[in-house]
Amino acid sequence: MRHYNATKKMNSMKKYLSLLIMILAAYAVKGQENSLTKAKQIVSKMTLQQKAELVVGNGFHMPGMKSQGPVIGHTEDKVPGAAGTTHAFPALNIPSIVLSDGPAGVRINPYRNGDSSRSYFATAWPVATLLASTWDTSMIKKMGVAFGSEIRDYGIDIILAPAMNIQRNPLGGRNFEYYSEDPVVAGNMAAAIVNGIQSMGVGTSIKHFVANNQETNRNTVNTIVSERALREIYLRGFEIEVKKSQPWTVMSSYNKVNGTYTSEEYDLLTTILRKEWGFKGMVMTDWFGGHDPVAQMKAGNDLLMPGTPNQTKAIMDAVKDGSLKETVLDENCERILETIFKSPAYKNYKFSDKPDLKKDAQISRRVAEDGMILLKNNEKALPFSKNIHNVALFGINGYQLIAGGTGSGSVNKAFTISLDQGLSNAGYNVDADLKNVYTNYVNDEIAKHPKQTMMQQFMHPTPPMGEYVADEDLINKEASKTDVAVVSIGRNAGEGRDRKLEDDYNLSDTERALIKIVSDIYHSQNKKVIVVLNIGGVIEVASWRDNPDAILLAWQPGLEGGNAITDLLSGKVNPSGKLAVTFPVKYEDVPSTKGFPGKEFPDQATAGNFGMKQIPAEVTYDDGIYVGYRYFNTFDVKPAYEFGYGLSYTNFTYSNLKLESKVFNKKMVATVTIKNTGSVSGKEVVELYISAPSKELKKPSEELKAFAKTNLLKPGESQKITFVIDAKDLSSFDTESASWIAEAGTYTVKIGASSTDIKQSEDFKLNKDLIVEKDENVLMPQVTIPAFSK
Ligand code: BGC
Repeated sequence: MRHYNATKKMNSMKKYLSLLIMILAAYAVKGQENSLTKAKQIVSKMTLQQKAELVVGNGFHMPGMKSQGPVIGHTEDKVPGAAGTTHAFPALNIPSIVLSDGPAGVRINPYRNGDSSRSYFATAWPVATLLASTWDTSMIKKMGVAFGSEIRDYGIDIILAPAMNIQRNPLGGRNFEYYSEDPVVAGNMAAAIVNGIQSMGVGTSIKHFVANNQETNRNTVNTIVSERALREIYLRGFEIEVKKSQPWTVMSSYNKVNGTYTSEEYDLLTTILRKEWGFKGMVMTDWFGGHDPVAQMKAGNDLLMPGTPNQTKAIMDAVKDGSLKETVLDENCERILETIFKSPAYKNYKFSDKPDLKKDAQISRRVAEDGMILLKNNEKALPFSKNIHNVALFGINGYQLIAGGTGSGSVNKAFTISLDQGLSNAGYNVDADLKNVYTNYVNDEIAKHPKQTMMQQFMHPTPPMGEYVADEDLINKEASKTDVAVVSIGRNAGEGRDRKLEDDYNLSDTERALIKIVSDIYHSQNKKVIVVLNIGGVIEVASWRDNPDAILLAWQPGLEGGNAITDLLSGKVNPSGKLAVTFPVKYEDVPSTKGFPGKEFPDQATAGNFGMKQIPAEVTYDDGIYVGYRYFNTFDVKPAYEFGYGLSYTNFTYSNLKLESKVFNKKMVATVTIKNTGSVSGKEVVELYISAPSKELKKPSEELKAFAKTNLLKPGESQKITFVIDAKDLSSFDTESASWIAEAGTYTVKIGASSTDIKQSEDFKLNKDLIVEKDENVLMPQVTIPAFSK
């Protein structure tokens, strides 16, 4: 009886809840209708000139450079250092909104009008690659809330983030700004951060849509890619993101896809983004992206950033001569206005210019700790034993941590905690003699290169500082007076340029020699050597990883980096990050390396913006859907560290995998129990892969479909994890029928601690082929891309 009453109560509660949801949904639709009606009313009052100004940004301003655009209401007036603004129309009550970079934190000028008594620094959060390595969407959402409040407090309406392109090749210059080689990780992480940021009443711009996976010739390169690879790999993360979080805006990319600039491609911005996925917001270009403003309007690229008077003129002329229907322009305007209505500027929000940077720094530290990855830990070299007090810190990077990458993905922060500061803060004694040697060298090297403006640095970046050559005597002396050696290796990169193979992806000879000789000497005295990697993207590890006892991959961990690394070294925090990208044995093992970064056609070069030559180029994605672990697993190529890999100071067991049913029907629920069987508390990343039957369509041997991170489990504690798989998760894109099809047959659910360390698996059946979604064939390549073979 009691049970019956409880069930009754539960049922009425459920009814009440669904009623509430219906009412709220009705309000949301109503709200949208209202905002559209309001936008239409305003557009009906606008002159052609005003419309053509609304769809074109308010000009470009770069510190130290002449403005390229009208000066009225310029970005510089509102938030100095922000990337752009829209035009204001005071008579129509339409304010200018402020757009600012970027993915790792609010990027604005730290000082205004030469006044050094008041600063406007922002939190440098850990880079996206680290965020992805947390595999913890709820933590990233919380970080998003803190990020969102900083955006709002600094008077920004839309942050130009997150960046979520696929890390297709290890040399990609912006990989640090991106999450993963896998779209399920990228899509879910981006959705989490967008939901967090937008909950604070400010907008996001997910970027760069789409297939902007390299920086070489980024403004001209034509990406030739099959429709299947586009939909399953490059678009899929954006699709997950849009469906889970409705970002206010999407930023189209610089490149072309199969012959057309993405910002001019109707099928990308309208057919796929809006009609297939239900995107409700506006699309803006990347800065100076694309070529033809009229084609951009027609494609549904509503806002052209940063905007030039020539674009306004071209749009007005096109309406006048009939080549652009005014109704198309009206729709572009309506979508921009609907975005503006949501903005703090429209609501006349009085921003404080005083974000809580102290609190945010602590959040940034927690996230950094959660996304660092323990790659190697022989004989429990880590955490440091209680007997370790004196640390010899080798490598220039130990004294100058790289918080994040360069370009629009960088942040003006008040400080960066270096590893030596972090160790000292935690009470370790960082050997002062060695510190002197390194700091003197670093200072001398810095003095050799005069300080450059941002633009000079962009055009001719200072070459990275070479590693200091530490001689044997010095290392011997250090080994006799310290308890442990830490060797820190750093890498930096950023937009506009891809990384190099030598002395970047591959360690320099000096770096390799340093790791080897420090390891030999310390080992001869029975002391351990730890390597810390402060990098934004994948590097070569196989040739030197046998030398040290432990390797901690710290990524570029934001402004609190040195403290966060120390928390893991000391054991205050147990590492729980895992790789969201494969570390190959050698660069050539990655299939995209063959054609990367594509072909150039220098005889067709033209002059571009700021005197930068534009060289037409093309790159063919002949690796198809076999990107990252999809390739390594399917073709049995052993990586150095596989996708999904990461160690902990404790151990976990996986048990009791249960599928709700043996036959698939609309969805499948899988549960599994994770237990901490070691002696310290820890969190475990749990990965769900599916191996699908391959009748007509070739498929990767397995693909990640869901993931979760446990709570902090005490020794002996267990947690049951539940995953829900839907029909789309079973399907692949069949180009011939333009549909997502789940083929009948046996599917295997694999629960792994990594993509190759599968702990539990169970089969289920799909009785009949299932057409999960019927689309149109769009964005098809005009040339035949041969089917991928190893
Ligand atoms: C970058 C974008 C950035 C924009 C504005 C471009 O060069 O590709 O990611 O948001 O500049 O700074």
